[in-house]
Amino acid sequence: MKKFVKILAVVMIVALSATLLFACGGQEDTGREKLIMGTNAAFPPYEYYEGDKIVGIDAEVGALIAEKLDMDFEILDMDFNGIISAVQNGVVDIGMAGMTVREDRLEHVNFSTTYAKGVQVVIVKEGSDIKTLDDLAGKLIGVQEATTGDAYASEDYGEENVKRYTNGAAAVAALQSDIVNAVIIDNEPAKAFVAANEGLTILETAYADEDYAIAVAKENTELLEKINTALAELTADGSIDAIVNKYIPA
Ligand code: ARG
Repeated sequence: MKKFVKILAVVMIVALSATLLFACGGQEDTGREKLIMGTNAAFPPYEYYEGDKIVGIDAEVGALIAEKLDMDFEILDMDFNGIISAVQNGVVDIGMAGMTVREDRLEHVNFSTTYAKGVQVVIVKEGSDIKTLDDLAGKLIGVQEATTGDAYASEDYGEENVKRYTNGAAAVAALQSDIVNAVIIDNEPAKAFVAANEGLTILETAYADEDYAIAVAKENTELLEKINTALAELTADGSIDAIVNKYIPA
């Protein structure tokens, strides 16, 4: 009987180890926790597609944060308009999308310390009669839905003068085909869109200064603290600057 128990124990241990080995080997990742970042990848140089891969400042900084947290990393592309609720519902752990810290958003999510600055600018066609911000009055303004550009344009020039697009590229395409007279969008994407499309220019007067930060669910305070620590380290050791300089050459 004793011998039987021993044999049984050995058999069970072998079976268990085999199961564990198989389970680990069968997974593509390390069994570590995963940090899932929600973004809208039509926003160069912060997030955009290179082939079927999402690259950009946010994609790289997000990956470094995950590395610091000893987590695997995944990016989910979605409408900008859906990012905050995806964070709230836990569909993603963080929202990182050149996202501006705003009072109304702080009612729904927390924000990390800021890791970049943004400026809202105005894109028009070369030779447009819109030369200053005042000239925007009564004109049709294209924006990315639910962005700060959308909020400012709607507040300052009236909802009826604002046309909302799901992303910046679509708003810029509308400007090119004269469906809208101007586009209000963040300065770095604006530069990228102007560089990629003929006949567009950016007004010299900037519209508004902003801080970009990472959105985290209200109850996820532990993750928020870890992210802030990671951001502080990545700032101190120059990693974030290096990524920014790679995508935005001085
Ligand atoms: N900074 C603006 C905002 O927070 C626009 C961000 C848009 N980002 C994007 N990935 N499409 O509202």
